[in-house]
Amino acid sequence: MSQDLWTRVDTYVSGALLGADSLLDEVLAASEAAGLPAIAVSPTQGRMLALFVQMTGARRILEIGTLGGYSGICMARALPAGGRLVTLEADAAHAKVARANFAKAGLSGRVELREGAALDTLPALLAEGAGPFDLIFVDADKPNNPGYLDWALKLSRPGTLLIFDNVVRDGAVADAASTDPRIKATRRLFDLLAANPRLTATAVQTVGCKGYDGFALARVGE
Ligand code: SAH
Ligand code: DHB
Ligand code: MG
Repeated sequence: MSQDLWTRVDTYVSGALLGADSLLDEVLAASEAAGLPAIAVSPTQGRMLALFVQMTGARRILEIGTLGGYSGICMARALPAGGRLVTLEADAAHAKVARANFAKAGLSGRVELREGAALDTLPALLAEGAGPFDLIFVDADKPNNPGYLDWALKLSRPGTLLIFDNVVRDGAVADAASTDPRIKATRRLFDLLAANPRLTATAVQTVGCKGYDGFALARVGE
């Protein structure tokens, strides 16, 4: 089992099930041309996010960590008419590329990008009554994931789906002795998910063109 095989299968699955998507190709090309890191969710993962939007019937989505807007576009396109995505991005250069990509996708009307460190912009969202959100995708700086869980809970309702990206990191999450602040924060996140009686959570390991990683999923209960 190797990266080469995971990539071949991911390419096969994309080709077999996703179909051509010139818009997403353009979004990635524009992101790469602007020098953004190639760390957006993969095409097959983007389809999974879109399916989650449709399966939950989400109308309001919050994303933490926009990058060039790839995952945001995958989710926003899956919204019903009148649906909205709010996405938070700390890096001004990333935000600029994302805004252009949302415009290119014809989604500027349903996507609101807020610039700034998420822990600084989340309080205003709550104060403005922007929530509750039906689905919250957390994919920013991993050491802040425990803090993002707190805010996600404040901005959620019973039934909200929380999704955290990159919780497996080549299996490092299983290393209780890890000193990597990202891994320590992920393990802390798992402890918080488990300790909260309102949450039902799991994590799904994934392999594919982005390597070996995974998503944590949690449903907010009554
Ligand atoms: N969700 C995107 C990828 C996000 S990559 C996709 O799949 O297409 C992580 C992003 O989080 C980067 O753009 C980074 O600048 C941003 N980020 C890092 N720290 C942040 C913070 N404190 N607040 C908001 N965004 C942050
Ligand atoms: C990195 C961040 C991500 O959100 C991701 O999906 C993959 C890699 C990173 O910072 O290396
Ligand atoms: Mg990620």
